[in-house]
Amino acid sequence: MEREFIGKTFDDFLYRPQRGVVQSRSRVDLASRLSSHFDIALPIVSANMDSVTGAEMAKAMALEGGVGVVHRGMTITDQAREVSQVKRSHSYIVEKPFCLPRGATIGEARVFTRQHNIRGILIEETPGSTKLAGLLSNRDLPWSEGMEDRKVDDFMTPAERLVTAPPGISVEEAERIMFERRIEKLPLVSPDGQIKGLITKKDLILSRQRPHSSKDRKGRLLVGAAIGARGDYLERATELVEAGADILVMDIAHGHSDVMERAVESFRKHLGDAELICGNVGTAEGALFLRDLGVDGIKVGIGPGRSCRTRLETGAGVPQLQAIREVWYTVKDTVPIIADGGTKNDKDIFLAIACGASTVMLGGMLSGTDEAPGHVITDPATGQKQKFYRGMTSPQAVLEALYEAEDEERLEEALATPAEGHEMQIPYKGSVIDVLRRIRGHLASAVSYIGGASLADARAKTVQDPLKYLIPLSDSARRESYER
Ligand code: XMP
Repeated sequence: MEREFIGKTFDDFLYRPQRGVVQSRSRVDLASRLSSHFDIALPIVSANMDSVTGAEMAKAMALEGGVGVVHRGMTITDQAREVSQVKRSHSYIVEKPFCLPRGATIGEARVFTRQHNIRGILIEETPGSTKLAGLLSNRDLPWSEGMEDRKVDDFMTPAERLVTAPPGISVEEAERIMFERRIEKLPLVSPDGQIKGLITKKDLILSRQRPHSSKDRKGRLLVGAAIGARGDYLERATELVEAGADILVMDIAHGHSDVMERAVESFRKHLGDAELICGNVGTAEGALFLRDLGVDGIKVGIGPGRSCRTRLETGAGVPQLQAIREVWYTVKDTVPIIADGGTKNDKDIFLAIACGASTVMLGGMLSGTDEAPGHVITDPATGQKQKFYRGMTSPQAVLEALYEAEDEERLEEALATPAEGHEMQIPYKGSVIDVLRRIRGHLASAVSYIGGASLADARAKTVQDPLKYLIPLSDSARRESYER
């Protein structure tokens, strides 16, 4: 690696503006590689932290062209449920729609819609039969009191009056039928009346409005999920793949380790070539180690995170821009690099990519938003609205995850291990969609300033020799640049 990167991170450089070629910043293509088999339109990944990515964040991320990695601080069943919630939402076709049997009550239907966050329920003849009996839409649910024990049967539209279509129908044909018949839900049914899927108007409209969403081959939103490298990680991985996770992220604090080697080898034995991103590492040796294990993406970052205390407590770490450069210099573009942690401003994202990252994982910058798990609280002293953001090895996150897993043995061990993360309060920021749109705008501007036509073009220009473009900053230049 170039010596000039040693000990350096984002605030140590600006880049020299070049002659611009971009005609309109709103149309700059920001697509980038996420892993061996996936590209995304916005090179942003939301961190697998319990105060950042659950199903809501992962949905928003994929809709905006990025991707979310659902955290693992919960039971396997709960994590798999979050993943399948993402896969079920906003796809052209819901493959296995939720159903209730004819005999269910209105009260049960109401709880069911809330539980699964859906607005209409397909009704099947008997539990598990998947034979279509009718459709109970939100409008069919009675709102006057005293109806909770009545059967859904009395309120649904029966199958014989429903417009349905065969499973192989094209999106265009479905749209045409739904418009002509003025319906919002189109059940897909086999000739013998078995439920094979569901198309909703809301999802069709949304996918047209967001052509850059991250989708799998079936048009479902893309989602990642975190696993560890010990204990039940293989069982977790299997369940998550079953639930539809497209990418697994094997995330441990020290990825360049024997534990990681054993875990990746067992993973490949059990899960074959399922897409696997591994980390974290922060050195050339760590990156080579992961590449030789055959991973599909390398997550880079030792201790730069905002909620992280590793460097403070252990003295171990690599300044983040150095780590990114060191890793790229070693593996080049053979394996995509996810730069994880330490980004405080939008400009850091561009610098990470210009120096070798393909995508950037964000924790703090996406925390405090509506889509991040947790409640908005009002500080009684200042009246300011806030949300919590915490490291995954903070005492609060560790204890909560272990209590949930009811794992006495690991709980004892965790209580005896000093924390390397902490919890903090973050000002409430509104929707993450606005944060992502701001980042998109700033990335497009950065591409324009460096004279690229697209992000990929800009990166191709800088990545071989970034120092040609970078200006190292003196303390006074840094003050002039960043102090406002
Ligand atoms: P940012 O700076 O975006 O960083 O908030 C997010 C990343 O921080 C890492 N992380 C931790 N690192 N102790 C650590 O040493 C922790 O408790 C911890 N929790 C999260 C993680 O890589 C995340 O993506």
